[in-house]
Amino acid sequence: MVCEFKPGLDGVPAAQSSISNVDGQKGILEYRGIRIEELAKKSTFLETAYLLIWGELPSKEELALFEYEVHQNRRIKYRIRDMMKCFPESGHPMDVLQASAAALGLFYSRRDLNNPVYIRNAVVRLLASIPTMVAAFELMRRGDDPVRPHDDLDYAANFLYMLHEEKPDPVAARIFDVCLILHAEHTMNASTFSARVTASTLTDPYAVVASAVGTLGGPLHGGANEEVIRMLEEIGSTKNVRPYVLDCIQRKAKIMGFGHRVYKVKDPRAKILQNLAEELFAKVGYDKYYDIAQEMERVVEEKLGPKGIYANVDFYSGLVYRKLGISTDFFTPVFAMARVAGWLAHWKEQLVQNRIFRPSQVYNGRHNANYV
Ligand code: COA
Repeated sequence: MVCEFKPGLDGVPAAQSSISNVDGQKGILEYRGIRIEELAKKSTFLETAYLLIWGELPSKEELALFEYEVHQNRRIKYRIRDMMKCFPESGHPMDVLQASAAALGLFYSRRDLNNPVYIRNAVVRLLASIPTMVAAFELMRRGDDPVRPHDDLDYAANFLYMLHEEKPDPVAARIFDVCLILHAEHTMNASTFSARVTASTLTDPYAVVASAVGTLGGPLHGGANEEVIRMLEEIGSTKNVRPYVLDCIQRKAKIMGFGHRVYKVKDPRAKILQNLAEELFAKVGYDKYYDIAQEMERVVEEKLGPKGIYANVDFYSGLVYRKLGISTDFFTPVFAMARVAGWLAHWKEQLVQNRIFRPSQVYNGRHNANYV
């Protein structure tokens, strides 16, 4: 059977999955059938990760054990720290994370994929180590030693602690935890597809996560939240917003933080993030870039709303991260910290009914060319 070529595989199902679901017309996102708004209100990142990876919400005891295991595995091996110290300070933290996630796999016996203990340990180790590696590089590139994980702090609070060397405000920590929930999974996006393709070769989960991290780094995917902040800084004031937007439209340039392959209304995560940003500004202080962002959303909606282009998850996440003291080039690694839950859920799901990915192509090159 010859199928029609669809650039970007637009609309072509790449897997059957019960992990998450998006209704792009209604602006609905569900993880294992539970609406994202509900999880943002009631769950924690680790509980949500458990839900995504094992398919059901954990009991109290199951959650306590899972949290304990993750907390026990937060320290990274000194060889990994030493390796990271050799990376150039100017290297992008996503590249550092990709290399470090792959290096983690060097320490553990490979590919015991039929063993539930191997699967559980790999899940725990990746969820536990990635925040430590991300925070470590931020300190190392400034010439400082990494901060050890804090035994009394939960997942989100501990990350902020390792980044700033002080215990975070509980409201800020909770807001950050909700950000992680919102970024944990999002159906068959580019990095998840990449994770599933890699998983389908039956390689190890560290390679799966490393390949997904590499894919997430691009500006059309996870990298957009960095670009949003740079754009807001370049615009500089609300009066410059309209000319900026009109100029982009005229040049057919993409406006960062807007548009989505699936959502044709405002991304439900952007709505929650906007509320979180307001909550955070009320707690720790006003941000002038929020005024610019709101004006931008108004103008883009006016001009591009009729084409189904609205704010996506990356539009407000950067403002929240900035206020939490996270450096701009660490926004995407923070996204990866959360999305590792989704990638691991897809890895596990792929293994259940695996068939190696091997799509076809439409050859449009030459034939019988001369070798001269
Ligand atoms: N700004 C301006 N115009 C946009 C736009 C944006 N952010 N996103 C899409 N469009 C326009 C395109 O120019 C195109 O217009 P045309 O039909 O007149 O040529 C139309 O909308 C369809 O765009 P297309 O690139 O085919 O959509 P897509 O589904 O392939 O792309 C994205 C989706 C996310 C890659 C795209 O919207 C984008 O690049 N957004 C900015 C980056 C971003 O925020 N990424 C994070 C996604 S969560």
